[in-house]
Amino acid sequence: MPGPLLNDQTAVITGAAQGIGFAIAQLFVDECARVVIGDVNAEAADKAAAQLGGSERAIGVRCDVTDSDDVDALLAAAADAFGPVDVMVNNAGITRDATMRTMTEDQFDQVINVHLKGTWNGTRKAAAIMRERKSGAIVNLSSLSGKVGMVGQTNYSAAKAGIVGMTKAAAKEMAHHGVRVNAVAPGLIRSAMTEAMPQKAWDQKMAEIPMGRAGEVSEVATVALFLASHLSSYMTGTVMEVTGGRFM
Ligand SMILES: NC(=O)c1ccc[n+]([C@@H]2O[C@H](COP(=O)([O-])OP(=O)(O)OC[C@H]3O[C@@H](n4cnc5c(N)ncnc54)[C@H](O)[C@@H]3O)[C@@H](O)[C@H]2O)c1
Repeated sequence: MPGPLLNDQTAVITGAAQGIGFAIAQLFVDECARVVIGDVNAEAADKAAAQLGGSERAIGVRCDVTDSDDVDALLAAAADAFGPVDVMVNNAGITRDATMRTMTEDQFDQVINVHLKGTWNGTRKAAAIMRERKSGAIVNLSSLSGKVGMVGQTNYSAAKAGIVGMTKAAAKEMAHHGVRVNAVAPGLIRSAMTEAMPQKAWDQKMAEIPMGRAGEVSEVATVALFLASHLSSYMTGTVMEVTGGRFM
């Protein structure tokens, strides 16, 4: 029997107080990683860490990914608690949906900042630590929205497409340092972010999914685990779609 996939590794996951990030944290802990939950919601991050078994296995750290000092502090807290980061998952995200006619400049900036600046901060700062140790895996959360563009999401689609370009550029910069950078592009996944959608929007999306159902957060987590672990040792700069076949 092969051992656990992330034995003794330090994994930092942003936006992991709930949803997809929390599912990734849970699965990584099951695979014997020690996990640092970085989230702008400090109370929820602490609660999530406690749920994962407390300070031996997981800690919560308040971190706004748009603030590079916060991301430095997050990685420093990880090193203090468990050792230098081996796996970085840039998952924190928000939506501010509106058609272009009504979207405010602030709604545009907020989404670009959290996704693009946030993922850039997490990627470059984790990469700086990993390159010294000649190993590491970075997993970025893109979205199907970045591949096809979605109505009401000019901000989010731009940010998620940007994450694909950033992932590939970073993968090329880091490959010879032993650091892999890949992305996951989920489709419709059941979480707080999507359950806020009106029923009509759900039904419309459901009709586009060959597998005929939404995905579960655990089904994104398993793909993140694959990209974080040695199972994907010869993969970098890829985007793995987790969509039930939607927009293949
Ligand atoms: N749910 C889906 O269908 C879906 C589909 C494709 C991609 N995604 C992406 O997956 C990721 C997770 O989505 P989710 O559905 O779990 O969302 P969610 O809203 O359930 O969780 C997002 C988490 O990010 C945190 N967060 C928000 N802004 C932050 C910031 N500035 N700094 C740190 N943390 C911050 C929130 O507090 C929250 O805990 C996002 O990047 C999202 O865009 C989700």
